[in-house]
Amino acid sequence: MPTYPPEPFRIKMVEPIRLLPLNERRAALQRAGYNIFSLRAEEIFIDLLTDSGTGAMSHDQWGALMRGDESYAGARSYYRLAEAVRNIFGFRFFVPTHQGRAAENILSAVTVKPGQFVPSNMHFDTTDANIRARGGRPTNLVIDEAFDPANPHPFKGNMDIAKLKAFIEKTGPENIPFGMMTITNNAGGGQPISMENLRQVSEVYHSYNLPFFIDAARYAENAYFIKLREPGYAHKSTLEIAREMFALADGMTMSAKKDAIVNIGGLLCMNDEALYQRVCNELILREGFPTYGGLAGRDLDAMAVGLYEGLDEDYLAYRLNQTAYLGACLREQGVAIIEPPGGHAIYIDAGSLLPHIPHAEFPGISLTNALYLEGGIRGCEIGSVMFAHPDPETGEMIYPRLELVRLAIPRRVYTRSHFDYIAEIVGQIAARREELRGYKFTYAPELLRHFTAKFAPL
Ligand code: F0G
Repeated sequence: MPTYPPEPFRIKMVEPIRLLPLNERRAALQRAGYNIFSLRAEEIFIDLLTDSGTGAMSHDQWGALMRGDESYAGARSYYRLAEAVRNIFGFRFFVPTHQGRAAENILSAVTVKPGQFVPSNMHFDTTDANIRARGGRPTNLVIDEAFDPANPHPFKGNMDIAKLKAFIEKTGPENIPFGMMTITNNAGGGQPISMENLRQVSEVYHSYNLPFFIDAARYAENAYFIKLREPGYAHKSTLEIAREMFALADGMTMSAKKDAIVNIGGLLCMNDEALYQRVCNELILREGFPTYGGLAGRDLDAMAVGLYEGLDEDYLAYRLNQTAYLGACLREQGVAIIEPPGGHAIYIDAGSLLPHIPHAEFPGISLTNALYLEGGIRGCEIGSVMFAHPDPETGEMIYPRLELVRLAIPRRVYTRSHFDYIAEIVGQIAARREELRGYKFTYAPELLRHFTAKFAPL
């Protein structure tokens, strides 16, 4: 039996959840247009839609909320956050934003011109969409191992350095406003990036005078993977590792809803003062004054505390082991997942589980809906609905290489018995997989279509 780490906390407040009867789950899913994003939270038993903003705050964070200073400008809360940001990330300038995509929007708005390219290991969908919304072309250059679910590479989120160099040569550095890295690589299985790879990426970008931005949503989980897996880091603290990572970059965007364990918040950091001034102008237009950036003072305080809790090594050991436990349970059910398990989620290989459903009929949606019908579990398709798009030159549909269903694990929320239940439900679905059918769109918006699309079963 796989081992499960005892939680390094005890529970002092509970939130009841309930499994609706099957007929009510059926009716709810139909009403939602077969898109689990349109379900009401009270219709869900175990919600693994996302690990974003769904974590449980600690008593210290709830205490910090009460210290929130709601002054419009220069609040004490801002300075407490600024101290944590400076201490961990070390960049010269930063602004808070209401969440990660706001930071991406502002960065794209002030840097990306139509026709320009932004390389990364793999952009998350909001980053991808924010760059496209400015006429840019996000480009993914992750190592090939990332597309082989069974490959146990310890740093499967790494950038392919040869591809990156060839890409910059071909595109011309003058057509690239900045380069990125997403750590951990959410769109590719929550897989970590090694320090060695980050160093090489930094060297390549800087050799072409390109600014290097990190998407730091899950940087703390990445830092702990480096500690566990990369030679020379076992004796360094996650704080030291984080500082070493960010010293390689010129700035970062961050959704604080992940590794800063808050329900809302984000950051945009940079070293370039001229860029910071343009960022502030855009921020004032869209988010608010630079010392609060679309958040309440109390949110800034909760983030300042959460940034440190997210780096705590007892917490991170528990967190990564919990994810690995769910992975091991699914493996025991004979279900293929992206190996090795990443930090924040288990990604079921829906393409290999449902080989009879082609890309165009969305195997990931089929599995996602089965998880809800069978067990009241909400997962998330990360496949053709999220990523298929027409080629801008030929108009031909380009499908992603993997059809995945992500079971994202909220931080400090579910316990072992929930994971055992999930594994049992997945096992029941796998046992009658041939009965599952595909879906077709009845409505699909142009951008970020997984959020609001509607479907009908085939
Ligand atoms: N970057 C990464 C790597 C992300 O995973 C996300 C969000 C964002 C940026 C955007 O941040 O939601 O605060 O605006 N990921 C969530 C998820 C939505 O479910 O994986 P946001």
